[in-house]
Amino acid sequence: MTRSTAQHRAQSAAAASPDPVAAAAAAATVDLGVEVCGIRFPNPVWTAAGPPVRDGAALLACAEGGAGGLVTKTISRTAAEPTTPNMAEISHGFLNAELWSELPPERWIEREYAITREAGLPVVVSMGYTAEDIAELAPRVRPFADALELSTHYIGEDAGPMIAAIKAAKAAVDVPVFVKLSPLGREMARAAEQAQAAGADAIVAINSFGPCLAIDIESALPQIGGPDGYGWLSGPALKPLAVRCVHDVASAVDIPVIGCGGVSRGTDAVEHLMAGAVAVQVCTAAILRGPGVFGRIATEMASWLAKHGYASPAEVTGLAVRRVVSRPEAPPMLDLSLCNGCGLCEMSCGPDAIHVVEGKAVLDEERCELCGLCVSRCRPGALLWAAPA
Ligand SMILES: Cc1cc2nc3c(=O)[nH]c(=O)nc-3n(C[C@H](O)[C@H](O)[C@H](O)COP(=O)(O)O)c2cc1C
Repeated sequence: MTRSTAQHRAQSAAAASPDPVAAAAAAATVDLGVEVCGIRFPNPVWTAAGPPVRDGAALLACAEGGAGGLVTKTISRTAAEPTTPNMAEISHGFLNAELWSELPPERWIEREYAITREAGLPVVVSMGYTAEDIAELAPRVRPFADALELSTHYIGEDAGPMIAAIKAAKAAVDVPVFVKLSPLGREMARAAEQAQAAGADAIVAINSFGPCLAIDIESALPQIGGPDGYGWLSGPALKPLAVRCVHDVASAVDIPVIGCGGVSRGTDAVEHLMAGAVAVQVCTAAILRGPGVFGRIATEMASWLAKHGYASPAEVTGLAVRRVVSRPEAPPMLDLSLCNGCGLCEMSCGPDAIHVVEGKAVLDEERCELCGLCVSRCRPGALLWAAPA
């Protein structure tokens, strides 16, 4: 049995805000629980395959840190042997060339999955890559898995191997099969449609993006080792690409979509949900900030939902999907009660339409070219677009 939603709600509310009244309000109004493919998760902030879930003990720490679901590190038929160095924090992001689990599958099956199950949370076993790999591994992990997640990271842009892997998984097990897509040149919506047609029960979007290159200018060496120094991008810099992919996939298929990429705050998770995700996975933020980040993101999400009058994550899922609206052709609105006179809007305004006068922004509507940069940069939220009719 998973830990109760009510308990999580209470914990979330307690940690949501230093203001106990606001925290209590969040607890009273938001139920973070989500159901995906018939599996009940106490909250929609899950682990993603990567170092924070490298073994059973690490997965228990993620559960302790507030994760609502446990996706395990990808296994394949052999243990990975990555080159080093294989991880680097870069500005606004992260590069890795880490491959899959460095533990052999036997170790996971004999020990790590059983430890993971002690958390009492749903367990999604990640595995790769070919149909042969899946046909061999899937039945062996089935006793520990509430669902499988198939990584498509190393199988190229031809959909054939992905389709074969999905069919192998569906033939081998009776639990839902999630398919994790990489942001390759292959069109995401088409890939998701092909995955659904092959029997996938849910899509996870996305894996890290690359190849990318970062140079250590002191040594003039690539920050990542290996023959070419390439790494794959994750973290905040990945989020707009991930959100676009989630949106494209959610618009194309009618199976659940799980967002992954650049989630480090509750508002990032809300953005993924609005793009069509029913839950999110988090990797880089947990590498950089530790396993407590899952609970913090869930708590922030609960606070945001409560503040905006939503009772559950499901109420915001897909709000931005298939939403064709004509934007108002009027300058942004200015709420002077929120303006702190910081001047970021003035600095951002090419046509000189906004100035700070005596500590408050003043907007010259005639000069405004509606570019929107000031709205996106206004930290206190004093500049905002009027809602479309
Ligand atoms: C160091 C590292 C190792 C990763 N290992 C795996 C893996 O074994 N299997 C997988 O499907 N994705 C793997 N990923 C990708 C993440 O699960 C995730 O899709 C990606 O990093 C985007 O999410 P994030 O921005 O929250 O990190 C890895 C990512 C990183 C940074």
